[in-house]
Amino acid sequence: MISLYVDPGSVVADVTYGKGVFWKLVPLGLYDLKATDISTGVDCRELPYADGSLDCVVFDPPFMHSPGGSAHAGHQLFETNYRNNEASIDKSDHGALLDLYFKASDEAFRVLKSTEFIS
Ligand SMILES: C[S@@+](CC[C@H](N)C(=O)[O-])C[C@H]1O[C@@H](n2cnc3c(N)ncnc32)[C@H](O)[C@@H]1O
Repeated sequence: MISLYVDPGSVVADVTYGKGVFWKLVPLGLYDLKATDISTGVDCRELPYADGSLDCVVFDPPFMHSPGGSAHAGHQLFETNYRNNEASIDKSDHGALLDLYFKASDEAFRVLKSTEFIS
């Protein structure tokens, strides 16, 4: 899907890289991929890139927050595979996820090159 929108050679940051599943079918070297995740020490709300320096940001955030995993009895694989509780957040409910989405979106806007839209 990325080939529909992003030219080869573009600088792309996947800021929630996780296990890199999104990249399994993308030829290595086609993009200048910067792969980070909170599990490797980079918070998507505070990216180590200069303003306007990236062509594309890939953001595949956690979908739910359930401290301790107790809300998902029977869905432990979801917890394990998506590590939904790794977002370091200071709120305890759905608002926490929204907060993450808004802050990460602002940060993506900061690091992305500005684009001219064609109408
Ligand atoms: C839905 S999974 C992403 C799966 C990923 N696309 C893959 O292919 O494996 C959500 C990811 O967000 C990461 N994450 C959670 N909070 C984060 C944060 N504040 N900054 C960066 N990554 C975060 C988790 O560690 C997890 O890898």
